[in-house]
Amino acid sequence: MIVDGQQIRPIWLDQDRITVKVIDQRQLPHQFVVADLTTVDQVIHAIREMFVRGAPLIGATGAYGVMIAALNGEDEPDQAAFIRQACTRLKAARPTAVNLAWGVDRVLEKVLCAGSPADRIDAARTEASAIAEEEAENCRRIGVHGAGLVEAISRKKKGETVNILTHCNAGWLACIEYGTATAPIYEAFDRGVDLHVWVDETRPLNQGSRLTAWELGKHGVPHTIITDNAGGHLMQHGRVDMVIVGTDRSTHTGDVANKIGTYLKALAARDNHIPFYVALPSSTFDWTLSDGVAEIPIEERSPDEVRYTQGLADGRITRVLVPPESSPAADFAFDVTPARLVSGFITERGICGASKADIHELFPEF
Ligand code: MRU
Repeated sequence: MIVDGQQIRPIWLDQDRITVKVIDQRQLPHQFVVADLTTVDQVIHAIREMFVRGAPLIGATGAYGVMIAALNGEDEPDQAAFIRQACTRLKAARPTAVNLAWGVDRVLEKVLCAGSPADRIDAARTEASAIAEEEAENCRRIGVHGAGLVEAISRKKKGETVNILTHCNAGWLACIEYGTATAPIYEAFDRGVDLHVWVDETRPLNQGSRLTAWELGKHGVPHTIITDNAGGHLMQHGRVDMVIVGTDRSTHTGDVANKIGTYLKALAARDNHIPFYVALPSSTFDWTLSDGVAEIPIEERSPDEVRYTQGLADGRITRVLVPPESSPAADFAFDVTPARLVSGFITERGICGASKADIHELFPEF
């Protein structure tokens, strides 16, 4: 995306073609820091500690992680075994977003077909770069398909402002370009639709207030940050026309895992007859799971992410303790919204209902 006149992505391959560069998203919006990844341990650390985050980006980072494993293992007696072991570790870095295993396995498959250490490195580089480009294009298409939904609401409201609520950051920072949930927003805005975005702050790590607000602001999209609990109130008062969120893993039966709190937004949207759409590339469908609530692994992170909050104080990024020092906390990172609450999926191939039949009609090869 163009930010302050510069073309920027959250991940790219350096000119040396061996260093992976990522934006350290933990520091945004207050500092723009780029980190270099050259070892498998660094890649795992960057995923786990959320320098990089968001399902499609985690997938692309895992994919480049396999290239780094091939480079790190170039002089090992059994490079293929070294890479396989690294892939197992990469896939375990975070459990919920299915894109991670998808990206790693896709590159590994190509690597294992190559015959020499140098060929394995080349194969990994080519496939990881292909994944990044494909995901960028998938997100562009999601935008084109989803913008029609926003335009339809705009027409119904006779051009009055369309109010869209989103949760977490499913923007270009979480993908490669455009984002998933934000792609229809950017596309509709660029087509001239009068719109405004309610941005859930998204506790505890504030991906909404830190990242989505930053992205939208850089693109000139009108938006307002709200507390995570404000959505229901706004919906009851007719101030939300539609909800669009991303997802970390959706079953092929239509259940949606996304950032904790998404389920409550879907319940409030249903109670208020407001469309609730989920935007995703096909890499985020889990074609093996049928019951999202029972089967999707939900990441639990450090309670300190709930106990402490981070912000800018005296020009420096600072962490502060909020609750009593001795109070225990728990950090459930995702929840699952059942298919029955989802109005539809916005994918790179078009829009479909949240049912096994509709999803497979759009993706018959699975
Ligand atoms: O914990 P995070 O920040 O990786 O969670 C990200 C989300 O929940 C996003 O909504 C999801 O990955 C969709 S990204 C296009």
